[in-house]
This record gives sequence, C-alpha cells and structure tokens, in this order.
Amino acid sequence: MEQAMRDFFLFLAKNKTMTKLAKRYGLKFGASRFVAGASLDSSISAIKKLNEKGMPVTIDHLGEFVDNELEAKEMTEHCIDAIKAISKENVNSQLSLKLTSMGLDISDDLVMANMRKIMEAAEKYNVFVTIDMEDYSRCEKTLEIFKRLKREFDNISTVIQAYLYRSLDDVKNLNEYHPNLRLVKGAYKESQEVAFPEKSDVDENYKKLIETHLLNGNYTAIATHDDEIINYTKDLVKKHSIPYDQFEFQMLFGIKVERQEQLMQEGYKMRIYVPYGNDWYGYFMRRLAERPANVMFVVKGVFGK
Ligand code: FDA
Repeated sequence: MEQAMRDFFLFLAKNKTMTKLAKRYGLKFGASRFVAGASLDSSISAIKKLNEKGMPVTIDHLGEFVDNELEAKEMTEHCIDAIKAISKENVNSQLSLKLTSMGLDISDDLVMANMRKIMEAAEKYNVFVTIDMEDYSRCEKTLEIFKRLKREFDNISTVIQAYLYRSLDDVKNLNEYHPNLRLVKGAYKESQEVAFPEKSDVDENYKKLIETHLLNGNYTAIATHDDEIINYTKDLVKKHSIPYDQFEFQMLFGIKVERQEQLMQEGYKMRIYVPYGNDWYGYFMRRLAERPANVMFVVKGVFGK
C-alpha cells in the first residue's frame, strides 16, 4: 500500500498541468511546511532565523524541467539574484540548483552558458553552489557538466544518489577531482534496471558511499533524515578520527526539526536545504512520496486546518 502511494505521488510530481496551476495559485495544501516562501525575501528571513540558531543553509529557487530558452534565462537570473542577496544580506548560505532549470533538456551550449554565468557570479560573491541530481536519464549528463565546471571553478559540488547501482563507481571515478559531494538516497521514480528496489540495499550502498568518499579524504555532505545512516556516520568518523570539518549533515527545511537542532548542539555542522519560489509542486509531491503520513498535511491544508 505504502509503495503504491509513493509511486502515485512520484507520478503526480511529473504532471505539467498541475505544475502550471500550482505556480499560478501560490503555496497551497500545506506546502509551506516544506517551502520557505514564494519569494527570495521570504527565504532570506528563513535563512536568518536558521543562521541565528547556528545552522548554515543552502537555498534552492524551485524549478525544474524547463523546456524553453527564455525561461532557462529567467531561472539563471533568479540564481544570480539569490547569490547577490546572500552576499548583500551577509547570510551563511550556499546555493542549490537543478540543471534542467538552466536548460539541460534544451542544449548543452545553453546549459553551459547559463551555468558559467551563475558560477562567475558565485565566484565573485564567494557563494558555494551545489548541482542537485535529478532523475537517472539526466545523471550522466549532469556529472559531465559538473566535471567541466569543476575544472574551471572550485566552489562547486554535486549530488550522488545511493539508490543507483552506478553510484559507487561514480564516487570512485570522481575522486580525481577531490570533490565536495552531497550523498543522498535519491528521490525519483527509477526502474529496477538502474536502481535498487529494496530500501535495505539502498541503505547499505549509502554507507559504502559515505565510507569511500570520507576515507578518500574528501569533504562529504550526508543529506538524510535517517537516524541509522546518521549514527553510522558518527561511528565511522570516530573510528577513523575524521575531523569534524571534513563533513556535514544536511536536512530539508521543515523535516525533523528537533533532530536538526540536536545534531547541531552535539557539535556537528548541520546545513538546512531551504527551497523557495512558486514552482513548488514537484518538490512538494516528492516530499509526500517519501512519507505518505505527510498526506495529512494536505488534507488539513484543503480543509483549512
Ligand atoms: P528515509 O526516506 O529512509 O527517511 C528516514 C526518516 O526521515 C523517515 O522515517 C521519516 O521519519 C523522515 N523523513 C524522510 N522524508 C520525510 C518527509 N518528506 N517528510 C517527513 N519526514 C520524512 N534527492 C535527489 O534525488 N537529488 C538531490 O539533489 C537531493 N538533494 C537533497 C538535499 C538534502 C539536503 C536532503 C536532505 C535530501 C535531498 N534529496 C535529494 C532527497 C533524498 O534523496 C531523499 O529522498 C530524502 O532525503 C528522504 O530520504 P532520507 O535519507 O531522509 O531517508
């Protein structure tokens, strides 16, 4: 039953009509539990509150699967505005973005040109950028673009998904770049041809990725809400005397908030991923898919709480 609900929400996440409607009508159905706000201003005030508590942030201007050049250009400008705002407001925040927002599905030249503009601004204003990982069909291209950009810019990282069979090889192959990587379980609907169908296998692979990347001496962001993976990391760093400044935990805005604060108080770096913007629908559906119990928030949202 739970798997069917999960598949249903991941199917809904790709619905273009719903995406367009959602953009028009603003944050609805309890989405504001997971999305900081519709505007850059609202996300800046959310960042400030998290920074005041001692937590650094990465902000994400929501948007994905852009299919025309004009929109990709607008999304690029949004990212540059966010970089400037981070600098002007002097907040402790990085930037996360999706390559399909910058024109990945349109042409290689377009996505590279847009990404270079963003990275030039990020370099100028000293803001670190992470390229989120999207579905499997875009994984190879995303890693290729990451490698090209990494040769030109130092302040960039990307994401590896533990549910993909290929990921351990990717982590090993990327080692020559000594990249800062964010490791996650993976949020998209993938086939058994490319991804582990069983949670236990995903978790085992996740542990292998963490161990490999950390023991290779690379900076590692462990982005999960799963206590078993968090405890595994704590034991691993203790066993190998890995310094606390070689890794960080990351969690999503609005999820396991008490645990976020607890980890920070234990002395770990705890970064919060703060999404904002009016293109919230796909992101929200993926959060519902991860935990069908969240559907109660939708029901409350529909019936006015
Ligand atoms: P898991 O799903 O096993 O959840 C563990 C526990 O956490 C659950 O039992 C529940 O208590 C809580 N939990 C998890 N999700 C919840 C939710 N939505 N609502 C309420 N409670 C929840 N994915 C991707 O494909 N590409 C990417 O670039 C990123 N980027 C990214 C950045 C950051 C900072 C995070 C934390 C996550 C991502 N992800 C991602 C999403 C990731 O792949 C994954 O889908 C979610 O983190 C959920 O998996 P967990 O590791 O939390 O474990």
